[in-house]
Order: sequence, then structure tokens, then C-alpha cells
Amino acid sequence: MADDLRCYNIADLRERARRRLPLGIWEYAERGVEDECGMARNRAAFEAITFRPRVLRGVEKIDTSTEIFGKRVPFPLAVAPTGAAGLMWHKGDFALAHAAAKAGVPFIISSASTMDLEQIAEAGGRQWFQLYLWEDRSLSHAVVERAWQFGCEALFVTLDLPVPPNREYIQRNGFGTPFRLNARNTLDALTHPRWLMGVMGRYMLEGGIPTQANLPDRLRAKVTKGAPPGALFKQDDLDWDGARELRDRWPGKFVLKGILHPDDAERALAMGADGVVVSNHGGRALDCSIGTMEALPSIVEAVGGRMTVFLDSGVRRGSDVVKAVASGADAVLAGRAPLYGLAAFGEAGVARSLDLLRAETARTMAMLGARSVAEAKAALMD
Ligand SMILES: Cc1cc2nc3c(=O)[nH]c(=O)nc-3n(C[C@H](O)[C@H](O)[C@H](O)COP(=O)(O)O)c2cc1C
Repeated sequence: MADDLRCYNIADLRERARRRLPLGIWEYAERGVEDECGMARNRAAFEAITFRPRVLRGVEKIDTSTEIFGKRVPFPLAVAPTGAAGLMWHKGDFALAHAAAKAGVPFIISSASTMDLEQIAEAGGRQWFQLYLWEDRSLSHAVVERAWQFGCEALFVTLDLPVPPNREYIQRNGFGTPFRLNARNTLDALTHPRWLMGVMGRYMLEGGIPTQANLPDRLRAKVTKGAPPGALFKQDDLDWDGARELRDRWPGKFVLKGILHPDDAERALAMGADGVVVSNHGGRALDCSIGTMEALPSIVEAVGGRMTVFLDSGVRRGSDVVKAVASGADAVLAGRAPLYGLAAFGEAGVARSLDLLRAETARTMAMLGARSVAEAKAALMD
């Protein structure tokens, strides 16, 4: 049996990923910010929700599919944007996108990806693009135009990092930007030879460690150097007018990611957004923010049915997907779950993570007596 098939849940994939990655990369993928209360709160909010199942409903056939932006998806989940997937696996962004395409699951390309979006688009399937704004706004506008040109049907603008987050472990591990080789991170890499050879070694053979690939060649700084002027993400000056400008520039579906307040969701609707992501960045932005499952109901009440409501941060089980949908979300995004699969086994591991989440979603629905997503939506209410 292939090793990835010996992982029976996301926690198994997580453990494999932890063992494979150097501590500095592992902590970057896994950890939150400051005291990591936000991550715990996200999970606690999922765990606080219980189902009251119905019986004798004939659950031989379960249809987990649903419609997102007018097209069917096999179950209510898309792969969240995660920059630096390329540090977990050689050409990790492509592996994520390709596994998602094969599973029929939409994939969101991160603007911080280490592969150019054109190369990722070659993976096929349904792709969306996530935007952080570079200080030089013309760079962002150019990237967004390319995303449209290469077939991305939706733009997700991430709003929950108006300033850089406080990730102290990054400094401690010596994995900051610019990257500086020191005794600690050298030893860390050397003691993870499979990662060193399979990921770093392959990049070295190809000419160097990848960096912000969505920038024009002249601005792609080496990881050991700081970004050139204008090429740093900077959106502390972004406001609703700026968001409106982006909306007007983008011909496709437009989504604001990182919404936790119903008033902001209403404003998003009023300015012409097609969706919001109820998200606290997986507990990686503001440590003391509300758990996303706690924030969801009032946002659904404010805008549900009039725009697409996604939820992320803490999805680790199919039952979490069902809880989110039953609480009014149209779909969830999964960030770390597919990343664990990627870091452990590459594309096969991503496929495994999506298979597991889908199978668990179907099983939970059957247990609940919900034969369709519409019936699952009613599961907490009747
Ligand atoms: C390693 C890592 C990198 C991320 N990079 C981005 C990014 O580039 N853009 C973005 O909008 N969100 C990014 N996120 C946040 C995810 O899109 C998503 O909101 C979060 O991972 C959801 O929580 P979960 O990991 O518990 O599923 C990243 C998350 C992780 C774990």
C-alpha cells in the first residue's frame, strides 16, 4: 500500500509533514501568531457545535455536490491560497493545483506563490486568484490582469493582514526575510535530508531558491536579499475606495477574504462583491480575533443568500465542512489540510487530503440523515 494511503485522517498527514520538514518550514506552515489563542478558538468553535441526527432516511445515496459561482463542485470545499507551498515540496504550487483539478475542487493561487501563475494555470481545473497588494500598485494591477488572462474566474482580495503579523518563531528559527543562513537553520536543514535533497536540492540544480514569482523578473529579489523598492506587500493604506477600484478593474467574481464583522459583509455586498470569506487567516493574523464559526451566523444573517459566503480557519474534518454548511456557509476553504498532504507526499498527499475530507463529509451527511447539501444545511436548524 502506498504510504499516503496509510494516512487515515488529516492528523496522520500532519504528523508525516511534521517529520519531513525542517522545523523552520514546519513552524511557518503550522503555527499561528503570538500566543496562538486564535487557532485554539477556531477549533473550539467547531468542537462546540453538535448535531442532532435524524434516522430512517434512506441514506444509500449521498450527494455531496453543490454549486459555487454557477458551477458544480464535488463537495463544498476549495483549496485556500497558501504562499510558500513551494518550500514544502518541489513546485508545490503546481502539485496543489493539479491534485485539486483532478479532484474537481477549485484552487486559489496565492499572489505570494513561488511559481509564476502562468505555470500554475497549466495544472488546469477551476482556478481563482488571491491578491495581496504590492506597495507599487501598478504591480498588483498587472498581476491581476494576468490572472484574468490565464483563466482565473474569481479574485480573492485578502484583507486581514493590513500590517505584517507577529510571528515570533520565524525570527527565532532564522527564517525571516531576507533569509540569513545561520548555525540553527543550517543544522535544521541538514537533519532533514529528504527535504534537503528533494526540495532544496532540486531548486539548486535549477538555478536557485524560488522567490516571489508573480513579480516581473527585474523585481524578483533573491531570498537572501530584501525586496526592491515597491515590491513588498503593503496594504495599510487600503480602504473601501481602494477595494472598489479593484472591484471595478476585475471582470470576474470578486471576493473579500478575511471578513469577521456583519457590517463589513454588508459593505462588501453594497460595493458589488460576489462573496466574502469568513476567515482569520487560520489564526495567523490577529491572535485575539473571534473564531470563524462564531462569526459566521451573524454574517450569514446579514448577507446570506445574496452573496457567496465561504468560511475557513480550522477545517480538519469532513464534519467541519458539514458544520460550516449547516451554519449557513456555501463552502469552506482548506489551507493547512492540503498543505500537510503536500509536505508529506507531494501531489499524492494533496489528493489524499481531499479524498479524506470528501469521504468524511459524505459519511457525516449519511449519519445525519442528510442526502444532499441542501438537507445538510437544515441539519442544525430542525
Ligand atoms: C503556510 C500558509 C500560507 C498562507 N498563505 C496565504 C496567502 O498567501 N494568501 C492568503 O490569502 N492566505 C494565506 N494563508 C491563509 C489561508 O488562505 C487560509 O485562510 C488559512 O490557512 C485557513 O486556515 P486553515 O489552515 O486552518 O485551513 C496561508 C496559510 C498558511 C497555513
